[in-house]
Amino acid sequence: MIIILDFGSQYTELIARRIREVSVYSEVISHNTPLSEIKEKYNPKGIVLSGGPSSTFEENSPTCDPAIFDSGIPILGICYGMQLIASYFNAKVERGEKHEYGPANLLIDDNFDLFEGLWLEMSIWMSHGDSVVKLPDGFESLGHTTNCQYAAIASRSKKIYGVQFHPEVTHTPRGMDLIRNFAHRICGCKPEWTPASFLEKSISEIKERVGDDSVLCGLSGGVDSTVVAMLLHKAIGDKLTCVFIDQGFMRKNEAANIKKLFSEKFNINLIYVDAVDRFFEKVKGISDPEQKRKAIGEEFVRVFEEEESKLSADFKFLAQGTLYSDVIESAAPGASDTAVKIKTHHNVGGLPEDMTFEVIEPLRSIFKDEARKVGLELNIPEEVVFRQPFPGPGLAIRILGEITRDRVEMLQNADAIVMEVIKSAGLYRQLWQSFAVLLPVRSVGVMGDKRTYQHTIAIRAVTSDDAMTASWAQLPYDVLDTLSTRIINEVEGINRVVYDITSKPPGTIEWE
Ligand code: XMP
Repeated sequence: MIIILDFGSQYTELIARRIREVSVYSEVISHNTPLSEIKEKYNPKGIVLSGGPSSTFEENSPTCDPAIFDSGIPILGICYGMQLIASYFNAKVERGEKHEYGPANLLIDDNFDLFEGLWLEMSIWMSHGDSVVKLPDGFESLGHTTNCQYAAIASRSKKIYGVQFHPEVTHTPRGMDLIRNFAHRICGCKPEWTPASFLEKSISEIKERVGDDSVLCGLSGGVDSTVVAMLLHKAIGDKLTCVFIDQGFMRKNEAANIKKLFSEKFNINLIYVDAVDRFFEKVKGISDPEQKRKAIGEEFVRVFEEEESKLSADFKFLAQGTLYSDVIESAAPGASDTAVKIKTHHNVGGLPEDMTFEVIEPLRSIFKDEARKVGLELNIPEEVVFRQPFPGPGLAIRILGEITRDRVEMLQNADAIVMEVIKSAGLYRQLWQSFAVLLPVRSVGVMGDKRTYQHTIAIRAVTSDDAMTASWAQLPYDVLDTLSTRIINEVEGINRVVYDITSKPPGTIEWE
């Protein structure tokens, strides 16, 4: 495996994912983990030092155990990680006059190992204010850009490498070659990590952690919680009980379908809780998005606790399908200290502090597409595995303004049309998400020679790899046309349809 020491970059977990993509297991740990612990606990074949927001010459800037540099374990420093290497080996790091944020062109001076298979130039993504301005002792330059004299450096005798740019982001198109070269060629890792080995590892960790206790698992019907449920079922069998809470904010017919799938097809202990009235009561009068999320999140856990108290077994654990993208966006523990809170995802930060469960989150370190691969490994049907993500608070965060039963029904009907049209156009799997949003806006129209003054539906369709960034989908005009015509004709109360052309960032995928 390869260990990543986290210095606070937003991209740290992405590095781990890229390494896993070249079939080598990788985990992120704290930057100050001592070498002895790293060796004993992980015995890694390589260490990556991540980027981060600090400057090496600032007081109290984060460092790692210096023994790492003499350990003989291959090291790759990225951005701040490279500056740390440079400082340790007596080079000069300075706040440059020219900062570099964005695309740049790397001129490769040496493509012997790290850049093996790459030509003389490659497009890279830079994001730094400080630069290495003198080569560290015993190092040579592997590449430079117009503004950065040492954009890639190496000490081959020590097996230490540094790059100033970010090979892990998609904006460095050949970055994967570099990561593959580091993992396979320099560290000598065999490409053996697969979803099956992730499963094996998770199952044995769950068994050890749960012991003889029992686990309650919140099912939403989405791929994440389904994978978690199946994973737990495989690990602990009947000690798992799933609870599906119908809060009334599901897609049309979805609650009934979930009930059927889990109890009939998967044969998992399932408790179906009809909590629709409670949730509507709870969100009454609330328009603020964060308050909505909090109210729903809290009620969710209360219902869980009530269910638990009704059951004879004593449930110690609550399992959730939290993914890494949920963790980072909610700035929850486990995300880098520097991550800024964007919104409270209800299966992460919205949980009340007095919760009595211990939380189990087996997918916390992986991304959606990795969770899907694990799902296929678990023989979950493809229609579930490839289901588009659906947020925990459901349609509640797609109804802007107050949530009422009428408005939920209106959105369910519009949303069902979006699903149907997108699926029959063969676009469902290509899109990360496609859905309808009900806006708190009424506008004037004319239908059948009569003036109307009705509600607006926004359609949102995005492509994405991991929900961290997303692009608005360039849906064909005829699909947009069918959506607009059908929604206005078939959904009572809607007289206008608009298409959202905002990418993420600056927008988020959901509207609240
Ligand atoms: P945003 O809107 O933050 O969404 O760009 C990123 C991804 O997360 C999903 N999402 C949620 N998932 N509970 C969830 O389980 C939530 O509270 C939640 N809020 C957003 C969203 O659908 C998208 O895929």
